[in-house]
Amino acid sequence: MGYLVEMGELFLAGNYRREPLAFVKGSGTRLFTEDGDEYLDFTAGIAVCNLGHSHPELIEVLKTQAQLVWHTSNLYYTAPQAKLAKKLVEQSFAERVFFANSGAEAIEASLKLARRWSYENFGSEKNQFVALKNSFHGRTLGALSVTGQPHYWEGFQPLIPGVIFVPPNDKKALKEVFNEKICAVILELIQGEGGVYLLEKDYVTLAKELCLKYNALLILDEIQTGIGRTGKLFAYEYWEVEPDIMCLAKALANGLPLSAMLAREDVMSALKPGTHASTFGGNPLACAVALKVLEIVAEPTFLKEVALKGKVLKEKLEDLKNKHPNLIKEVRGLGLLIGIEFYLDAKPIYEKFLKRKILTTMPKSNIIRLTPPLILNYREIDYFVNNFKEILKEI
Ligand SMILES: Cc1ncc(COP(=O)(O)O)c(C=O)c1O
Repeated sequence: MGYLVEMGELFLAGNYRREPLAFVKGSGTRLFTEDGDEYLDFTAGIAVCNLGHSHPELIEVLKTQAQLVWHTSNLYYTAPQAKLAKKLVEQSFAERVFFANSGAEAIEASLKLARRWSYENFGSEKNQFVALKNSFHGRTLGALSVTGQPHYWEGFQPLIPGVIFVPPNDKKALKEVFNEKICAVILELIQGEGGVYLLEKDYVTLAKELCLKYNALLILDEIQTGIGRTGKLFAYEYWEVEPDIMCLAKALANGLPLSAMLAREDVMSALKPGTHASTFGGNPLACAVALKVLEIVAEPTFLKEVALKGKVLKEKLEDLKNKHPNLIKEVRGLGLLIGIEFYLDAKPIYEKFLKRKILTTMPKSNIIRLTPPLILNYREIDYFVNNFKEILKEI
């Protein structure tokens, strides 16, 4: 075991299940350990480093901004924050942007905005949320309260009241729980942490219709699916349903802490001075990098390539599923967010990938999730698939 792993084990909180690996350098799709071992990264820091590690253009932008200004507080405007807000508005349904630092914070902001908007327009009784079973929205108490996986709640209750959970894709259940007291519905179009499960188009359309009928807001959590991950800049473009509020984080600044809550003007106007804030939110360093990220990722040719690479990878995985119908139950996903569900415990398969120096994640005990950097090439796709082929033979 290396020195850094040992030090981490001694001094860091024990809240993560970490591998005994300490990375000291990254380049493109590769990560390098303190011992100089090279790993192929099919996690991208869990859908964060969409442009890979140490992207030269991002480094350049970061260096330039580091020499200008790091932090001013949100009592003032900064160039990177204003420009990034403009870019996000130009690229989406939204008209206004609030910046924070993490996914959970963007979710917190969206829950507060939904309640405040409802309070101002319809009074204090309209304060309930509809959320989905098996969802994941983060670990702060508010975000946890709309996360539909009770094992995450254990020992942290009471959570915030007024959240109703319904099963995903069950239109009848959604209709039944709706009433005038609902202020918002919060959805992930693809449940990433839940195991890469996609919502059906009809279901999301119905959620939007019910929101319109009952004056509720549709919050889309695109923290994992946004910024090109699915082959569109935002996944809602596939579903063709516009949210009222959207949360972004993860890949927005390719690994620098930054999140955003986007909304239309009529909704965001409920956040008046003093209603919500963040000291670090919209930090100039992170915003400068995010501006460059969007410039690169929003290019139609870049997004087309992501969709194509995702399609090629998924087809090759489906081929393997057909060859091993007793091992692989399903291959799901969109773009480069792919889940492979097994009939058995996936841990030995995950371990075998790790032994072959390929990093993956396991959102559930029988599911392996692939979220490689979007810049990976076709040789790397083949390399991954060939390794998987050999692993499946060993199982
Ligand atoms: C869909 C979704 N929402 C929210 C979060 C929470 O983000 P963070 O860990 O940055 O607070 C995550 C993190 O995995 C996520 O995947």
